[in-house]
Amino acid sequence: MIEADLAVVDASELLTLRGTAPRRGSAQADLGIIEHGCVACREGVIVFVGDERDYRRQVRLDRSGLEIDATGRTVLPGFVDAHTHLPFAGSREREFALRLQGVRYEEIAARGGGILSTVEATRRATYETLIELGKARLNRMLLHGTTTVEAKSGYGLTLEDEIKQLRALQALDGIHPVDIVPTFLGAHAVPKEHKGDRAAYVREVVERMIPEVAERRLARFCDVFVEEIAFTVEEAETILRAAAERGLGLRVHADQLRDCGGALLAARLGAASADHLDHAGPEGIRALAASPTIAVLLPGAAFFMGARAGGLGRRLVDAQVPVAVATDFNPGTCPTEAMTAVLPAACIDFGLTPAEAIVAATSNAACAVGLSGTAGRLEVGMAADVQVLEVPNHLHLVYHFGVNHCRTVVKNGRVVVEDGAIAGGTGGAAAGNSAPDKAFDGIGS
Ligand code: NIG
Ligand code: FE
Repeated sequence: MIEADLAVVDASELLTLRGTAPRRGSAQADLGIIEHGCVACREGVIVFVGDERDYRRQVRLDRSGLEIDATGRTVLPGFVDAHTHLPFAGSREREFALRLQGVRYEEIAARGGGILSTVEATRRATYETLIELGKARLNRMLLHGTTTVEAKSGYGLTLEDEIKQLRALQALDGIHPVDIVPTFLGAHAVPKEHKGDRAAYVREVVERMIPEVAERRLARFCDVFVEEIAFTVEEAETILRAAAERGLGLRVHADQLRDCGGALLAARLGAASADHLDHAGPEGIRALAASPTIAVLLPGAAFFMGARAGGLGRRLVDAQVPVAVATDFNPGTCPTEAMTAVLPAACIDFGLTPAEAIVAATSNAACAVGLSGTAGRLEVGMAADVQVLEVPNHLHLVYHFGVNHCRTVVKNGRVVVEDGAIAGGTGGAAAGNSAPDKAFDGIGS
């Protein structure tokens, strides 16, 4: 018998995502569905996945174990949100209102608004404030089924303020159940004090920031915003090569506002991800298909900016590029923490099927953040990160939009969302399973 301490049983659809990761082409739609599906775990790791008959025959639940009935419900891995700008202060709803009146994003940035206004607010904020803001945001993510999140600095733009953001992420990773993959994005914008001397800022990033971030192990990845209003391909290449030399993985904000050669750069450097890609041309897409790089699409940002990249997801899948979908959570171009808010746009605007979008939000997203061995799939040996939706099949996730169907979230084998609310300090029957450094204080939003 297989011993387990927590099980989710009898799902009308259990989306296992088992098998190859990342998935591309026709495999992008393969959810690995088991009807009457069950998943069981022990000490935070999955020990059984199968149908109810095999579960009853093969699994023995501990006396103190917890069995969660998912009859009539859909069960899938926790979402992996592979692109967020989590640790910022302030908000930009007035800029949003201006954009609705027709003022362009680049114009707002040129007037000192945009990214630089969030930089001002984030520089003014203390480390403690960033942690408090971060907790509330991570709680909202968890309530919507996200169990792992990539999070970028990039609103500090001085050594001290970038480190403050990354240290806040490190602290949040220690206290909150959501796992955080930190990315250094010192090259998000040229800060105003370097406006007259971009080269000096690139040197600062390369010579001071990257070495310190790498030395202190504050980031796993380095990202650069390649765009006319940010950094050139040449500047980005200098920065990313310096980061790679220090052992950081690479990501690129590529071709968001126009085709700047960002996709080509990401493919050439073998980056873990090329993100946005709204204006990537056929050459960039071909290069991605021939590279190990995963395309991280941000349909919520395109939607929120009123710039639908019609059929982008379809084109990428058809070109055999593995596709992930993320929120791009940030105060300017996509202020939502919910993966479920961006999945409809992934399908309706970007042309993915619901199944492709779910693979993009789980298994492929885990690959994009370097966690293909632990996150994004329900398979024996993977982390027990599971969400239970109160809908009978996965189509409802996209079809019945704008409401949160997530009732239960299990993170590393522990119940962290119960009846649609944060489970708090006790964490349900399996609370003892979580690592001590992940004791969760259940602070509400
Ligand atoms: O991913 N593209 C650059 N960075 C963000 C926007 C950040 C902001 O506007 O504050 C993005 O869309
Ligand atoms: Fe972004």
